[in-house]
Amino acid sequence: MLSASKPFTLILFGASGHLAQLKIYPALYTLALKKRLPDAYTIIGFARTAMTDDAFKNLVSESVRRDMGTVNEEVLAEFVSHMSYHAGQYDAVDDFATLEKKISGHEKNWQNPVRLAYLSTPPEVFTSVLHNLCDSNIHVSGKEFRVIVEKPVGHDLESYHVVRDELKKCFEEHEVYLLDHYLGKEAVRNIYYLRYANPVVERLFKNTLIHHVEISALENAGIENRAGYFEPSGTFRDMFQSHLLMMGCLLTMRLRDSDEFIRESRLEALKQFYLPPAKSLDDIALQAQYSPGMMGEEPVAGYLQEKGVAPDSRQNTYAALALSTRASRWEGVPFFLRSGKRLQKKETRITIEFNEPRVAGKNTEPNRLDIILQGEAGMRLHLQTKVGGTEPQFRPLVLEDPLVCYGDCLPEHALLLLEAIAGNQTWFLSFEEVNTAWRLIDPVQAHLQKESTPLHTYPAGSTGPAAADAWIQKNGMKWL
Ligand SMILES: NC(=O)c1ccc[n+]([C@@H]2O[C@H](COP(=O)([O-])OP(=O)(O)OC[C@H]3O[C@@H](n4cnc5c(N)ncnc54)[C@H](OP(=O)(O)O)[C@@H]3O)[C@@H](O)[C@H]2O)c1
Repeated sequence: MLSASKPFTLILFGASGHLAQLKIYPALYTLALKKRLPDAYTIIGFARTAMTDDAFKNLVSESVRRDMGTVNEEVLAEFVSHMSYHAGQYDAVDDFATLEKKISGHEKNWQNPVRLAYLSTPPEVFTSVLHNLCDSNIHVSGKEFRVIVEKPVGHDLESYHVVRDELKKCFEEHEVYLLDHYLGKEAVRNIYYLRYANPVVERLFKNTLIHHVEISALENAGIENRAGYFEPSGTFRDMFQSHLLMMGCLLTMRLRDSDEFIRESRLEALKQFYLPPAKSLDDIALQAQYSPGMMGEEPVAGYLQEKGVAPDSRQNTYAALALSTRASRWEGVPFFLRSGKRLQKKETRITIEFNEPRVAGKNTEPNRLDIILQGEAGMRLHLQTKVGGTEPQFRPLVLEDPLVCYGDCLPEHALLLLEAIAGNQTWFLSFEEVNTAWRLIDPVQAHLQKESTPLHTYPAGSTGPAAADAWIQKNGMKWL
């Protein structure tokens, strides 16, 4: 069982922010609760907001209580005793110099501590933080250091290169941890391990047997008062460049005998994806925005009525993309990816639809394997079984398992943080992976941003835009 065994200092940039409160503090508390942290560690929150240490500890405690419902107050009090706050500007090297003094004070009697800098700020400030970490000697070569960078790294290929170059100026690649939190989810890692542990399943994953693959990440939440985060990004940029492509890679990558090669194999798989040839990018990509509608009995606003959204915003809240792959065993299998907000149902799912049944008969449906990662999680194999009578008639037979995590289950950020402290980069993205993903996504992103590209609409609470149904039907399929 992995635990953080060495003393460490974690500096969290953007400590006042949404992600920190929603995910990172509860994840760290979980590690404390499960006794996975060493005796000697310190967590320093850094942000511009003025706050005393006590106010910061209070903010952390409240975010943990909010997330967990019930907490062990004794463990929580011990946990926050390791925390302090440093108010500063991300672009002011002097604020980093005083931070360095604080860190050295904490580490005075520690043997070979690991330092981690976690960038949980908007991407615009990444380069200033990286620069100052080096100029202030918080990062010193020769000492163990990890810099953890939240996705998206940049907002397109060009801005990614700026961040990458800044990282490379000062950090070795083995010190850089590019984080896509989907890769910390047990259910997502399980896409790979289901194949690894089940040769029967793996044998079925073959282009001669598969009709097409659907990867869907559907949310019923809207933008939850976070227009500042969502408006510059949109669903396509937020979901496809990282999460959805990674799910496609875990499904199609070559299985390796050792986890050591997982990263390399994931990259190979990513490089095999390409945009299928088409007359226009509209044939392979589609975008839409939600209009006012009903979530159950509740009337809800459309995207343009959300607080902080420009009244004429053309940002997408739904997108779909067709992809092809040259990965061996998968060549020729069409992939359809989609993601959207304010939909009827929350569900993250991979569906593999197999070719039409050879036995003709009434009520036959193609075989299908659903791997449902979020929502009503589970794995479902859809087969057919004969009903009684002299005619070959069939009814569906569904084999299913709820795919609940058993054993040492940790929240995604807790698992990734433990691995980062231990120096294991397997489930973090490499530079080459992020680069490859942006190269694939960039032309589509540029196309979607054009004024002339259609932006369809769908009512909040619906199953999605009618245009997306028509779009996939043109390819001879339907969303499942
Ligand atoms: N929230 C999520 O669910 C989520 C999910 C996946 C990835 N991410 C990524 O994680 C990172 C942090 O996300 P977040 O949602 O926590 O962001 P956030 O709440 O908007 O920002 C985090 C903190 O950064 C500072 N900040 C905000 N805007 C700034 C600006 N324009 N210039 C300088 N500082 C600014 C603020 O702190 P001060 O004003 O106190 O300095 C804020 O509390 C982002 O890169 C995001 O893309 C977030």
